[in-house]
Parts: sequence; C-alpha cells; structure tokens
Amino acid sequence: MNTSSNLLNVIVLAAGKGTRMNSELPKVLHKIAGRSMLQHVLDTVKELNKNVKPTVVVGHGRDKIIQTFTDYACQWVEQAEQLGTGHALLQALPQLEDEGISLILYGDVPLIGVETLQALTSDIDDKSLGLLTVKLDNPTGYGRIIRNSNGDVTAIVEQKDASEAELAITEINTGIMAVANKHLKRWLPQLSADNKQGEYYLTDIIAMAYADNVTIKTCQPLSPEEVEGINSRSQQARLERIYQQNCVQILMDQGVSFADPARFDCRGKLETGRDIYIDINVIIEGQVTIEDGCSIGPNCVIKNSHIGKNSQIKANSLLEDAYIHRDCEVGPYARLRPGTHLKEGAKIGNFVEVKKSIIGAGSKVNHLSYIGDCHMGAGVNIGAGTITCNYDGVNKVQTLIGDNCFVGSNSALVAPVELARGTTVGAGSIINHNTEEDDLAVSRARQKNIKGWSRPVKK
Ligand code: UD1
Ligand code: CA
Repeated sequence: MNTSSNLLNVIVLAAGKGTRMNSELPKVLHKIAGRSMLQHVLDTVKELNKNVKPTVVVGHGRDKIIQTFTDYACQWVEQAEQLGTGHALLQALPQLEDEGISLILYGDVPLIGVETLQALTSDIDDKSLGLLTVKLDNPTGYGRIIRNSNGDVTAIVEQKDASEAELAITEINTGIMAVANKHLKRWLPQLSADNKQGEYYLTDIIAMAYADNVTIKTCQPLSPEEVEGINSRSQQARLERIYQQNCVQILMDQGVSFADPARFDCRGKLETGRDIYIDINVIIEGQVTIEDGCSIGPNCVIKNSHIGKNSQIKANSLLEDAYIHRDCEVGPYARLRPGTHLKEGAKIGNFVEVKKSIIGAGSKVNHLSYIGDCHMGAGVNIGAGTITCNYDGVNKVQTLIGDNCFVGSNSALVAPVELARGTTVGAGSIINHNTEEDDLAVSRARQKNIKGWSRPVKK
C-alpha cells in the first residue's frame, strides 16, 4: 500500500470513561459482532499496515484493557486524568518517531474502514494534514469545520464554543486525522485549556496548521456509519445491526441465500462457497468455513468449524471446533463438541452428542447417543441410545469401533474397549471386552417366559 512508507505511528484514544454505558466494563471493551470496539480498531489498523505498532492511550479501566490485548503488539500509554483529546495525544508524544506521519483514531469508533483510512493517509506528508469530516443533518455535539471564502479549512470549533453562525455548519469533525509527527511535537505542547470546557482540545491544532501553511486535506468516509462513535448501549445496538447488515450483504453477493437477512449474526469470520442456504437465527462464531451447496437450518450455532460440500446442518444444532466433510447430515438437535470429525457422508441425528471423536465415512449415529473419545470406522451403524462410557471418574478413555460394526440400541460401550470390524452388538448390551472380527457380542440377562402367570389382584 502507498501508506506504508510514511505511516509510522497510529495512536488510538481510549481513555474516556463511557459513563453512558452504565457499566463495570470499560467502554472500549464492549462488543460489536463478538469483538470489542477496540479490537475492531486494532484489527483494522493491522489490515491497513501490519508493520505499525499502535500506541493506545488508556485511562479508565486501563488494566482490564491491557490484559485483554496481550496478543496484540501495542504500546500502552496512560492518561491518568482525562483532560481532553489534545492532552490524551500529548501522553503518546514520546512514543512517536521524529519523522513520518501519525494516524489518530478513537477506540470507540469501531467501524472505521481500511479504504477510508487509506484515502485519508495516502498523500499526507509534512506539508499537509489529513482530516476526516462528514456532513450531518444534525451536527449537534460535534466540532464544526470552519472554512474561509476559498473553501480552505482554517479551524475546528467545538459545539460549546461555537457562535450561532458556526453552529449552523453541518460539516463536522470525526476526530480522525493524519498528521506529520514533527508538527505534533511542535503543536501539542502549545495547546491551552482556555475554552468553555477547560480541556486541551486536539482540534486546536487545525488552526495552528493553517497558520503554519500546512494544507488541510479533508476526506470523507465511504459510509457515514464508519465514523459513528459509541456512547450508549443503544448506539452499540445500532452499530451491531449495521455491521450485520453489511456482513449479510457481502455474503449474499458471494452466493449465500438467507431466509431473512435481518435474522443472521456473524460474530467472527465466515468463509463461504456458493449456493448455500441459511435459515433464520443462525449464529456464526470464530472462524467458520461453509463449502458449496450446504444448507444450515434455523437456530444453529456454529463456532470454529468447517462444513464440507453439500452437507446439511438441520435445525437447532450446535457445532464447536468440528470438522465436517462433504455430504454429511447433522441434526436436528445435534451437539458436536470440540474435536468432532465427520468423514464423508456421515450422519449424526437428533439428540446426539459427539465429542473428540472421528466418525467414519457413511457411518450413522441417528438417535439419542453420546459418542466421546471414539474412533469409529466407515459404514458403522450405532443404534438409538448407545453410550460410550469414556470416563472412569479420573481419566478419559478411548473406544475403537471398526468398519461395518452394528451396535444395537441402548448399548453401553465401556472404554477402553475395541470392537473389531464387522462386530454386531446385541441391543441392551454392556460391552467391556474387546471383540474379534464379525463376532456377535451380547451381554444381557436372558429373557425368561413364565407360563400361566396370573397378575396380582386388588384385595
Ligand atoms: C471530539 C472532538 C470533536 C469531534 C468528536 C467526534 C475534540 C476536542 N473534539 O469531541 O471535534 O466532533 O470528538 O466524536 O477533540 N479521550 C481520551 N482522553 C480524553 C478525552 C477523550 O482518551 O481526555 C478519547 C475518548 O475515549 C474517545 C475520544 O477521545 O475515544 C473522543 O472523546 P470524546 O469525549 O468523545 O470527544 P468529544 O469531546 O465528544
Ligand atoms: Ca464523543
């Protein structure tokens, strides 16, 4: 990207309290689509330029925030007292290189897009400053962009300091800007808090830039939601819906049909093939792949899983860390727990729980079973109510089931145990000895028929 050469620093302001969230949790840790607001911003920064190590200015809930991002290469700077956006940036000043430009972002503006930031930063150097602005029908509360008769930006005036005429301006400051470090190092220490709010306004550097003949280049976001900040739970809910609508739109363009695009939630990353049908109230979490021709029934939750071609996940199924090959059927009401691996054409039916098990090609576990720590071959049929007893109270133990076994209903396979290929297990058996190929294993009390039995009668 053209930005990588001159963009050396990114500063994310995230020290604010977020009083209106009415929450124990720091505002920037509240989530949109399963990721915290700050994570959205940091992920976008990574996408923009993976070599940049962002500086995050934190104050309220500082420790909690830092703990959450141990996987991220960030520099954390503390702003102990929130004396304004200019003061926040001043805390980050020692982290900045002398050359290059800095991009300034807000931790509570989560939907800012990479393309917008590329446009904003692309041709900024020490002779220019990039300012992201937007026109709003209702600009109340925002800083207004002041332009002279040539249309050049000369200053930003905050709502509380603005005159009647200035309040009528609809072009507002999003707060996001790109500025040369050497200017920041000169301008920031000159800020004063001599204004209605008694704060150090970052926005005052715009007038300084104008006075220093630094050209102010304004730029607009691709869509206005990108620059919306979150101050309340209702704004959070609004941006969540916008995010989900955008997500669904992209998926539809890629060949996915939705029963109702408004009733789908992606809280992670979904990769899809074509001709996929998704019914209502499906939730995707983490990293999920769904290949061509699959259908997902209503109310399914799918987390960190792969679903191979032409497979069907039926209503009310839960999948987590599962790998499903092509032509499989799962559900309705199936639960696939971590480590489930279904080979081609396998079938898991209603009220079946599978954990850390391989189910071989074409094998069927159709009703009311628990299969855990099991390696099952191909062409196996597991009868209703079969349980792998995989836990002795201390350790988890394995059950091995060879190809073409047939396990009768209501059997308990007490691990460790191995059924050799072709074994048949009689219904209702408790199996705790290994079998040999093609054995019939039955372990249950023999049925006795008592002739001429007369039922008790009431006295
Ligand atoms: C700021 C801008 C305003 C702009 C608006 C866009 C200033 C003076 N005003 O207004 O022109 O229209 O954003 O939303 O910059 N923060 C800190 N430390 C502080 C103060 C704020 O880290 O001391 C952080 C907040 O956590 C937040 C961001 O900076 O992420 C913006 O703060 P906020 O109080 O919302 O800014 P406004 O004064 O509303
Ligand atoms: Ca604000």
